[in-house]
Amino acid sequence: MPDLSELRPPAPDAAFTLIAKVSETPPGRITVHEVDGVRIALCNVNGRFYAIDDVCTHDGGPLDQGVLEDNLVECPRHGAKFDVETGRAVVLPAVRPVRTYPVQVEGDDVKVNVG
Ligand code: FES
Repeated sequence: MPDLSELRPPAPDAAFTLIAKVSETPPGRITVHEVDGVRIALCNVNGRFYAIDDVCTHDGGPLDQGVLEDNLVECPRHGAKFDVETGRAVVLPAVRPVRTYPVQVEGDDVKVNVG
């Protein structure tokens, strides 16, 4: 019998969890989602999606309530800024990065791997 495995569509990656529809987080916006007990801030930077911890590493501020400007999110509590692509803290008072998570967009589905 011929091997048909190459003709089948790839199996969905079970490590990624559907968290939102693309249309729910327009460009320049942040939405918050909980996956396996982790609060994720989903950021849309000009149509590209990035997922980071929703907790500021300075003093626990909710980053989903901050302002997203290009790829930088500003914490609403004391003004620290993080690069949502890398998680790096680029403006004080935060010095430690926020954790980032891999994102997959499939059609209108946004999926995140929280590991
Ligand atoms: S809690 Fe985010 S800057 Fe202080």
